[in-house]
Formats: sequence, structure tokens, C-alpha cells
Amino acid sequence: MKPLWITMLALLLCRGALAQDAPAPLKPGTGDDVASAYCNACHTSDYIIMNSMFLSADAWKAEVTKMRKAFGAPIDDETAAVITAYLAANYAVPAKP
Ligand code: HEC
Repeated sequence: MKPLWITMLALLLCRGALAQDAPAPLKPGTGDDVASAYCNACHTSDYIIMNSMFLSADAWKAEVTKMRKAFGAPIDDETAAVITAYLAANYAVPAKP
């Protein structure tokens, strides 16, 4: 059996690493689980939060399309619609007139 202190040390190190890498949590809402599952793969969801200052619902739609078409995010149409609706409801600014 391994000495207990090794286990404790390993746990402490893992905790530190996790705390550092964890992205800011997304707002709770329909589709938040899908959005964090798919939008955390290449960058953290901080990108969503940072861009929520100026993206409208339409701009989010374009953003999700860009992630899929330009950057190759493996997201199907149905999932993309859920994510787009979630972003529009929680992270969009009103569209400019
Ligand atoms: C296949 C990898 C990948 C996935 C998955 C992905 N992105 Fe991105 N994303 C990128 C890359 C590459 C950039 C631009 C490079 C950079 O600035 O790091 C980017 C940048 C962004 C930006 C900054 C603005 C911009 O257009 O550059 C936003 C906002 C964003 N992503 C949102 C999302 C959302 C929402 C999802 C989930 C639907 C998502 N991303 C999933 C690769 C990805």
C-alpha cells in the first residue's frame, strides 16, 4: 500500500491543476451543458463571456457557424441550434437598429 502522504500530495496537485484550467462557468439555462461540452474543446468558455459584450443573437449564430465551418468544430445542425439559442438567450446584446 502506498503511504497516505503520496495520495494526499497527488490529490493536492490535481486540485491545483484543475482550479487553474477550469474555465469560468456558463450561466445556467437550457443548453448550458451542450454549450460547455462543445465550446470548451479548443478554447475556454471565457471566449463566450468576453464576446458577450458586443455580439447580438444574429452575430452569435454567425459565430457558431464560423466555429464549425472555418475552424472545424464537430457540431451537428441540431446541436448548433441548441447552442445558438442558448447564447442568444444568455449572452447576446440587443441587435443594432
Ligand atoms: C474546433 C475548435 C473550436 C471549437 C470546438 C470552438 N471554437 Fe471558438 N474559436 C476557435 C478558434 C481557432 C478561434 C480563433 C482563434 C483564437 O483567437 O484563439 C475561436 C474563437 C472564438 C471566439 C472569439 C471571436 C472570434 O471569432 O475569433 C468566440 C466568441 C468563439 N470562438 C466561440 C465559440 C463557441 C460559441 C463555440 C461552441 C459552439 C466554439 N467557439 C467552439 C476554435 C474553436
